Amino acid sequence: MKERKVLVGITGGIAAYKSAQLVRLLKKAGAQVRVVMTEGGAAFISPLTLQALSGNPVHQTLLDSDAEAGMGHIELAKWADLIIIAPASADFIARFAHGLANDLLSTLCLATEAPIALAPAMNQAMWHNPRTQRNMHSLASDIERGQVLIWGPDSGEQACGDHGPGRMLEAEALFERAQDFCGDTGKEKPLPLHGVKVVITAGPTREAIDPVRYISNHSSGKMGYALAEAAARAGADVILVSGPVSLACPEGVSRVMVSSALEMLEAANQSIASECDIFIAAAAVADYRPEVVSDQKMKKQGDEGLVIRMTQNPDIVATVANSGRARLVVGFAAETQDVTAYAEKKLRTKGLDLIVANDVSNNAIGFNSDENAVTLITPHGQVEFVQQSKRLLAAKLIEAMYSELKQKNKAKKA
Ligand code: PMT
Repeated sequence: MKERKVLVGITGGIAAYKSAQLVRLLKKAGAQVRVVMTEGGAAFISPLTLQALSGNPVHQTLLDSDAEAGMGHIELAKWADLIIIAPASADFIARFAHGLANDLLSTLCLATEAPIALAPAMNQAMWHNPRTQRNMHSLASDIERGQVLIWGPDSGEQACGDHGPGRMLEAEALFERAQDFCGDTGKEKPLPLHGVKVVITAGPTREAIDPVRYISNHSSGKMGYALAEAAARAGADVILVSGPVSLACPEGVSRVMVSSALEMLEAANQSIASECDIFIAAAAVADYRPEVVSDQKMKKQGDEGLVIRMTQNPDIVATVANSGRARLVVGFAAETQDVTAYAEKKLRTKGLDLIVANDVSNNAIGFNSDENAVTLITPHGQVEFVQQSKRLLAAKLIEAMYSELKQKNKAKKA
């Protein structure tokens, strides 16, 4: 962080006390730090504390001629290499998302070309509120361009006694993100998954009945492809074993197209032949296939109807977990009721490290939708991911999976 110019924006929220530690860590690492506080932020923590920790006067008002004569808002906006808004309250996120410039912090966020990291902090109901979620979604293109970064929120017990997502990340975690982001070379984003091999199954399978008919499901492949794209963007070597879908192969990903569950199993086995770090089973694999596949197109059976005897397909993700060739095995559980309970059962019976519980009873998430909302079940507890685009969600899931891989590797070495 040496000589990095970091502007810390503090808005109104109880988590503001953590920002003092963030400023201290940034300073200790050699960064130049300037603090901008909103009126709400200054109600939670004294500007004097931040002035002492940052070694610079704290900026609070837009229309202050003395301050503007010192370092004005445009100069501040140009000065920063990185802006971290911590805590980013629901109100600030709403104003930021709409491009408002009605105080010093929101104004310089509009005027800057530096990347802006938001560390959301609010009550879980406020975070879940569709208006807050709409505001977050509206930042999607800024996030994809790298102009806006979302760090958190965490999930857990809140100051008000509620439990759920909305806790600001701890100062140490934010500092680590800032360090990762700045890397050694400056503004370039490092590729944290460089050298990590990831194999992902995606899409549906088709189980042939005869040469022209098959049994399948509604998986579009969007979730699995988004995971492949996110892993590749993070620097991983990615093999995508895909059922029949109409999506283009994400950049930097090696794709193997298959049709049936048996073909998917074979491709998955080949992909992990030389071991892999993370295996993710996002595919909706048919549990059964017709026992006999007719060589010729089947003829109508008349009034008697048609009985097709089915035989069970091998379980791909359980086979991979059993093989011991993947260091971290992650399944998905598509459920329509008792979602997390059934997902936990699958985690145990299939011998997985993690499972992503997906409520597919809701058409807006799950099969063939652009958005998803899931619960990641880990050995340490559950993390909820609220409804968001599959692309954004995929980046967060990849990050969480990689963090589990690191913990598992560390525990193995110890
Ligand atoms: O493709 P989209 O339209 O974007 O939709 C995404 C999705 C809903 C398909 C995805 O988010 C999801 O939930 N994928 C898992 C679907 C599924 O088949 O779940 P399941 O609960 O039946 O299976 C549990 C796990 O076992 C899954 O990881 C599955 O890939 C795996 N499995 C299942 C059967 C089998 N024979 N082999 C397997 O590997």
